[in-house]
Amino acid sequence: MAESIDPRKVPSFTLPSGEKIPAIGMGTFGSDKYAPEAVSAAVAGAIRYGYRLFDCASVYGNEDRIGAVFAEALKSGAVKREELFITSKVWNDMHGRGDVLLSLAKTLKDLRLDYVDALFVHWPFPNYHAPGCDGDARNPDSVPFSPERFLATWAQMERIQKAGLARHIGMSNMTVSKLEAVLPGCAVKPALIEMELHPAFQQPELFRYCRNKGISVIGFCPIGSPSRPERDKTPGDIVDTELPEVAHAAKAHNIHPALVCLKWAVQHGHIPIPFSTTEKNYQANLRCITEDPLTEGEMDAINKADKNCRLVKGQVFLWEGAKGWADLWD
Ligand SMILES: NC(=O)c1ccc[n+]([C@@H]2O[C@H](COP(=O)([O-])OP(=O)(O)OC[C@H]3O[C@@H](n4cnc5c(N)ncnc54)[C@H](OP(=O)(O)O)[C@@H]3O)[C@@H](O)[C@H]2O)c1
Repeated sequence: MAESIDPRKVPSFTLPSGEKIPAIGMGTFGSDKYAPEAVSAAVAGAIRYGYRLFDCASVYGNEDRIGAVFAEALKSGAVKREELFITSKVWNDMHGRGDVLLSLAKTLKDLRLDYVDALFVHWPFPNYHAPGCDGDARNPDSVPFSPERFLATWAQMERIQKAGLARHIGMSNMTVSKLEAVLPGCAVKPALIEMELHPAFQQPELFRYCRNKGISVIGFCPIGSPSRPERDKTPGDIVDTELPEVAHAAKAHNIHPALVCLKWAVQHGHIPIPFSTTEKNYQANLRCITEDPLTEGEMDAINKADKNCRLVKGQVFLWEGAKGWADLWD
């Protein structure tokens, strides 16, 4: 194994609570392709290498395996619980009254933890699909976004935080107009928002909105998710690592374009959570943000390279009568 990274050398951001969160983490969504064992083996290697932030979710179907890795790392003394920042998410079929706590109870049991550092509402509506479904699959029970329904789910999140089972609570896959509709009704504002963010999809309005409200941002698909499920692929999708601005910086720094995407993310001010089961890649992903930053000119060029190219369109969550996936995003 390459020499590990001292976690104290990894930059961090400060949450509204004053607590720190590492500026980069590891994603754990196997995209319906990577077996739970492959993902948990990567998590074990990542802890050894110096990662401390892990982005989990009940729907990823691997929390049990990842939990065994956490338990072993904690038991062996390789890491202390307070040094880890572990997130999870409540899936769309567990929004109902009392269900959020049930969902978290299973997550905590699977992850072998007493609490998570952040718990997210994975999507802002209770629409779900069967694992591994194709892009045309529709659930006849799907409904449009409703602020009242969402706030009933959020009230359960607030109780969970008060009980100490989640140190922070957050939302995911939101839009500015959905946030405008729900924030006034939140007793506890989200500490974190998780959103799709990569050079070709920068969501500048939503990003600025969160920053202005003091909400920290985690960016998913930071490398442009080359191995995403087939249902999330469409012919016009842009490949981030092939953007000229990204390729140019990669050449100048003599690194893979994927690493340019991650450096850009951290210097832009959000937390990327790249997924990787390839040791040399996940090691490089952590290491790259501890050295050789992008220049102002390179940052500027990538900031201007946004193509508004959403990859996770979410069409499987559409309801009867919806025109197309853009309806999900207002
Ligand atoms: N909140 C949400 O709704 C939501 C939605 C989607 C994703 N997420 C989270 O975000 C995480 C990341 O997103 P993602 O997994 O879709 O996409 P991603 O991190 O953008 O891309 C992962 C892919 O990039 C490759 N890769 C990683 N590092 C590389 C490197 N240094 N050089 C070359 N290739 C590299 C990986 O292959 P190798 O394995 O071979 O390295 C893998 O195929 C997920 O795992 C999940 O935790 C959340």
